[in-house]
Amino acid sequence: MGTEDGFVRVASLAEVPEGELRCFDLEIGRVTVAQVENELFAFGDECTHEGCSLAEGELGEGEETVVCPCHGSEFDLRSGEPLAGPAADPVPVYPVRVRDGWIELRPEPEA
Ligand code: FES
Repeated sequence: MGTEDGFVRVASLAEVPEGELRCFDLEIGRVTVAQVENELFAFGDECTHEGCSLAEGELGEGEETVVCPCHGSEFDLRSGEPLAGPAADPVPVYPVRVRDGWIELRPEPEA
């Protein structure tokens, strides 16, 4: 369901508990949403190394990163940039917010 400003509903807030990662199938592809200290992050689920699902990985130490389950690439949740390889390219990150208990994101990567 779209909104006037381009955000689409992804899930209810309860579906992404604090400290967890959840993957959702959207028109733009698989997107993972993470909740860290009451802040939400949304990024492309596919690791840019060999395409493993980042939702099946773990939050990194300090919890501002996600670590790929396959070969350990670590991505910054805010920028999508790889902080540790083997991945060399960033994952897309999306603007995300909560409205009336729903998680909404704008399916255009942040510039
Ligand atoms: Fe993610 Fe290799 S597929 S690190």
